[in-house]
Amino acid sequence: MEIGGVSIEGALALAPMAGVTDLAFRTICRELGAGYTVTEMVSAKALCYQDKKSLPLLRLGEEEQPAAVQIFGSDPACMEEAAAIALEQSGADIIDINMGCPVPKVAQSGDGSGLMRRPELAVRVAEAVVRGAAGRPVTVKFRLGWDKGSINCVEFARAMEGAGASAVTVHGRTRAQMYSGTASWDWIRAVREAVSIPVIANGDVFSPRDAVRILKVTGAELAMIGRGCFGNPWLFQQARAALAGEEIPPLPPLAERCDTAVRQIRLAAQYKGEHIACLEARKQYAWYLRGVPHAGYYKEQLCRVNTLEEIDRITAGIKRDLA
Ligand SMILES: Cc1cc2nc3c(=O)[nH]c(=O)nc-3n(C[C@H](O)[C@H](O)[C@H](O)COP(=O)(O)O)c2cc1C
Repeated sequence: MEIGGVSIEGALALAPMAGVTDLAFRTICRELGAGYTVTEMVSAKALCYQDKKSLPLLRLGEEEQPAAVQIFGSDPACMEEAAAIALEQSGADIIDINMGCPVPKVAQSGDGSGLMRRPELAVRVAEAVVRGAAGRPVTVKFRLGWDKGSINCVEFARAMEGAGASAVTVHGRTRAQMYSGTASWDWIRAVREAVSIPVIANGDVFSPRDAVRILKVTGAELAMIGRGCFGNPWLFQQARAALAGEEIPPLPPLAERCDTAVRQIRLAAQYKGEHIACLEARKQYAWYLRGVPHAGYYKEQLCRVNTLEEIDRITAGIKRDLA
């Protein structure tokens, strides 16, 4: 499939997830079959005010193509400028606008999913980003609507298409649902039927079969995987096989999974330093151990980890005792 002339291999995308899908994790997911990745969301205001802390979030991997950078904000002029900055800094192929974030601080101030309550402003924001992107494709990621009494994803998608978006991503939940309940794939199908640009379907892909089903039910061009790949980047490999009608490969043995976790943490340390990488490893590595019998002792140790040396020691213990 193509997004505004940028071709994407396969039908699987990794969802943008702040605090999770950093460059290290995206690198691993791409190696295992994610054909398209999007950075964590970056504040347009922070970019316009030249906040140095935001720039590293825009960094893409050398092999990370095609990929999108994601920005959020609701001031059209600032979004136009931020789009230009984000594309220039990252060299990304595509820019994505976050109109789905439900976090109160973001949504209540009118950004993220707050824009679904102001569709006319959302159109002006999208048009501004299209101008700032100067020819590069713009995509918009949003939800079904603000709450179940105000579902407007179909009109919203049409409005985004009219504003110049080259694709839309729909997370099949309302803002009020946050991450609870089940995602409605039927609404995503309704969006698919309403627009002629590609649609990326998102919400509740936790297994290879879910990936096959979401594409079938929605008719969308791409399936975007979020929480399902926490500590399990092999979901991409397995979903790829399922989509190709091939036998689904089993998860690699525990020792190999730990090696992948450690590689991810070491990559993160390269990009953001050992201290931050180890703080983030506390949750990231624990996800790799989900469902592993008798891993409690090691998960507790991970909660306190501060150095790569400690990570290696814990890994040796897991391999010795559990693998
Ligand atoms: C920890 C976390 C951080 C997220 N950060 C972002 C973000 O930065 N930008 C965005 O568009 N969506 C963000 N999302 C939403 C996901 O991209 C996705 O839409 C949502 O998790 C539903 O997909 P899933 O059911 O496969 O997890 C985030 C979700 C989670 C759980």
